[in-house]
Amino acid sequence: MPTDDVRGRSRSPEPPLGTGAPKLIASVLNADLDRLSEVCGEMEKAGLDGIQWDVMDGRFVPNLTMGPATIAACRKATSLPFEAHLMIEEPEKSIEQYAAAGCEYIIVHVEACRHLHRVLDAIVSLDVRVGVALNPATPLEAIAHVTNLIDVLLVMTVNPGFGGQSYIESMEFKIKAARDLMSRWPDEAYLEVDGGISPSTIAGAASAGADWFVIGSALFKHEGGMKGAVNHLRAEVERAPRRSWIK
Ligand code: DX5
Repeated sequence: MPTDDVRGRSRSPEPPLGTGAPKLIASVLNADLDRLSEVCGEMEKAGLDGIQWDVMDGRFVPNLTMGPATIAACRKATSLPFEAHLMIEEPEKSIEQYAAAGCEYIIVHVEACRHLHRVLDAIVSLDVRVGVALNPATPLEAIAHVTNLIDVLLVMTVNPGFGGQSYIESMEFKIKAARDLMSRWPDEAYLEVDGGISPSTIAGAASAGADWFVIGSALFKHEGGMKGAVNHLRAEVERAPRRSWIK
């Protein structure tokens, strides 16, 4: 039953991805697209905390991927929470479809929203958790006046559009600044990173202050398989001196 949270939003009290950190969230972008439902079940068995659906429209980013029907078809394959990462123009036109498809988090790009506050408010009204993504060149100031609406701030560590790209290490300055900014927010919001996260880069992102980590290609090319990748990634995060304010 939705209740008013500390920021005055009427929503279900328990965040679907739970509280605390670190969380490892699988991106299906590089998965076997001919057996996505099975892959979702394998991700749950491998110990991932959630699944991110990289939705691309070929306009906001130079790639075209899946839509709400694909997500809905996989919904019954796993109990893991779903994030819809909308790398699309005018996301406000389709947020209801992603909520209806079973996504508990909807992440929109600040660069794709002419009226960001209105879009985030609309997502809150669907009782869906709100994510805002920033491309590498976009400054944190872009979200300065909507912080009260954000549950997940996604700092892209690649330029969006494709999996398998190299981690942009200089984004750790932005991650650090985001961590400092979010430590002043009234309740738990999470700092997520996405792009080039692997056993060799995750510690740097964690040390800079990231809480949640989107993992794509690194899940599918680890010599230990998906479970081996998850164990390796978790070990690397635990090793990193964390700046997160969430213990
Ligand atoms: C970029 C995508 C990817 C994906 C993760 O548009 O958002 O970052 O989720 O892919 P890897 O982990 O292979 O970079």
